[in-house]
Amino acid sequence: MPIPPESPVLLESREALTTWRNSQRLPVHLVPTMGNLHAGHLALIEHAARDGAVIASIFVNPTQFGPGEDFERYPRTLAEDLDALAASGCDAVWAPAVETMYPLADAYRFEVRPPAALADCLCGAHRPGHFDGVCNVVMRLFAQIRPQRAVFGEKDYQQLTILRKMAEDFSIPLIIDAVPTVRESDGLAMSSRNRYLSVSERAKAAGLYKVLNALADAAKNEGPGTFGELRLSAIERLEELGFRPEYVEFRDAETLGPAEGLNDRIFAAAYLGQARLIDNVAVTRQSCL
Ligand code: PAJ
Repeated sequence: MPIPPESPVLLESREALTTWRNSQRLPVHLVPTMGNLHAGHLALIEHAARDGAVIASIFVNPTQFGPGEDFERYPRTLAEDLDALAASGCDAVWAPAVETMYPLADAYRFEVRPPAALADCLCGAHRPGHFDGVCNVVMRLFAQIRPQRAVFGEKDYQQLTILRKMAEDFSIPLIIDAVPTVRESDGLAMSSRNRYLSVSERAKAAGLYKVLNALADAAKNEGPGTFGELRLSAIERLEELGFRPEYVEFRDAETLGPAEGLNDRIFAAAYLGQARLIDNVAVTRQSCL
């Protein structure tokens, strides 16, 4: 009989976390999540498990949801998440209550604020304050856990970029690794929010990735001068497919500033029914001979 994988240790108090952290001999790698885990999250865990002890955080962070967003109905599935984590080599789960993550009253709470150049564009332009909330919770996770490495997904590329710059700017002594987006077989980026799609919406949802790929292909031999026209045609195509696009934009992959035709990435967000889907792809250029 195969031995069932061991469940990760569930840590819910600061004391339990400190005891676990101080008992680790191997480097400690952190995978921050909001739970409701899918194969995209598990790819991050497996990446981290290659050379260290892995701690996943599961915390639906209220400060990164705007008024009217899905904080209350965000899926909370801790028991299933623990089973999935056991099978992918996770050693511990940090699942604090809101008061444990944010112990001081609102008026006394310390905050970090990401720069507008990174946080007010793309998703940040449509979700005011979202990346403030992300930075504040991730800063707390870094301080609580003191990981050697933290792993994030390219699915949330703007988040990854902002957190890399935050770690650099505050000289936080850790390495940030990125894992490519894990997709369903038809190309739809895996996301906890895909469960908001109806059956008929799910059948259309991979259209977002297909449109972005076609756009990247059309752009690969073009300069920034044609990007404006290309992105408008992609927005029209998404509308024809039944999406309500929020944005489709070309940006520099490093700075998120204007695309310069060298290291560009295409970013998009679009609603399909109730679900807000995001995705991004690289523009891969043929190298100059
Ligand atoms: P969450 O949406 O749960 O995502 C946790 C991590 O999993 C993020 O780094 C995200 O980019 C990654 N991820 C999600 N879907 C993925 C996919 N299909 N392929 C690869 N990676 C994927 O992102 C958050 O939570 C929160 O903002 C958080 C960083 C935890 C702060 O609260």
